[in-house]
Amino acid sequence: MSIFVTGGAGFIGSNFVLDWLAQSNEPVITLDALTYAGNLENLASLDCDSRHIFVQGNICDRPLIDRLLAEHQPRVIVHFAAESHVDRSIHGPGEFMRTNIDGTFTLLEAARAYWSGLEGEAKAAFRFHHVSTDEVYGSLKPEDPPFAETNPYEPNSPYSASKAASDHLVRAWHHTYGLPVTTSNCSNNYGPYHFPEKLIPLMIANALAGKPLPIYGDGQQIRDWLYVTDHCSAIRAILDKGKVGEVYNVGGWNEMPNIEIVQTLIQLLDKLSPRADGKSYSEQITYVTDRPGHDRRYAIDARKIERELGWRPAETFQTGIRKTVEWYLANQAWVRNVQSGAYREWLALNYAARS
Ligand code: NAD
Ligand code: DAU
Repeated sequence: MSIFVTGGAGFIGSNFVLDWLAQSNEPVITLDALTYAGNLENLASLDCDSRHIFVQGNICDRPLIDRLLAEHQPRVIVHFAAESHVDRSIHGPGEFMRTNIDGTFTLLEAARAYWSGLEGEAKAAFRFHHVSTDEVYGSLKPEDPPFAETNPYEPNSPYSASKAASDHLVRAWHHTYGLPVTTSNCSNNYGPYHFPEKLIPLMIANALAGKPLPIYGDGQQIRDWLYVTDHCSAIRAILDKGKVGEVYNVGGWNEMPNIEIVQTLIQLLDKLSPRADGKSYSEQITYVTDRPGHDRRYAIDARKIERELGWRPAETFQTGIRKTVEWYLANQAWVRNVQSGAYREWLALNYAARS
């Protein structure tokens, strides 16, 4: 038995692969195109681990996926691979449509062909899990209840529109062809290996480098934060006990305005790694032009996955954010490698040596 993971060299995917192999001996086949967001250094601890097979490749490459599924016969596909950054989708939406929509379509067709050829127990046990986002539901007003699974889709950015399209494809492949799918729509993740273009790792990296901390607009936009390994445990719960065809919203009940997130990071950094001049990192806060079409508030109602699958986050925001800051302080070389582009060379050297 094995599981097939797409996008396993990215932020959440690499945490999932590491977490999976820390808890189970079931092998993992990771397929990742190693775009700018894919970093094999995240998986370096698995270099000599025979339970992990890494394949560099694109989810739009149907012959490659067909070959890998036939060769490894996975019982599960967990689909993380995506273009994930909202700002990049505003500046250049094309790759988001290709990977998030066409890539998901290609993967679904390959999964359908593979699953159709399975028999008996293997066919009954097969699952395709699609990892998606709360952004498909649009933006909440202050008085609105958190997003439930029944909320209508109202995606506002090219990124969220492409993820919404992929969710609809997954749903349709279940309803039309009977493909045994599950979908999760999760809130903002944070934790180790988070690419320093996203709010939390960018603020930590910029603070330590003495650079401005750019707050979009008034900084009062609200996100609902979940420590990344809690997202991983939610996906494991869905794979174990989730009902075919169902959607599960995943979140940590941690709604916070962006400016409060940044202030929390500053308090931790002031304590754990004070500035040489004795001043607070708050001196570096800089309000900048808002993101176009910026969603004002996201919040997740996670009661369905709690009630039906017994899943609960293990971390509070206080414990998770402290772990995160400590990880970034202890792994400043990882951030430097990403920011300098050295991770691409590291990858070429190490990957070429192994393939
Ligand atoms: P990420 O950008 O860190 O990683 C994406 C990974 O996918 C990278 O390793 C990249 O190389 C790979 N990839 C991109 N295009 C590919 C392609 N065409 N073929 C194969 N691999 C490709 O993203 P992330 O933050 O880890 O997000 C993972 C998934 O979780 C995405 O589907 C995202 O929409 C979803 N999600 C993310 C969050 C969050 O807060 N980050 C929250 C909810 C849902
Ligand atoms: O809600 C889930 C989504 O969370 C995922 O689907 C996306 O893949 C993930 O990137 C994330 O999207 P956001 O746009 O919410 O994340 P980001 O870290 O880019 O921004 C978080 C908030 O912080 C958002 O309101 C914009 C703001 N921001 C972001 C950056 C990078 C700033 O104010 N300044 C910044 O420099």
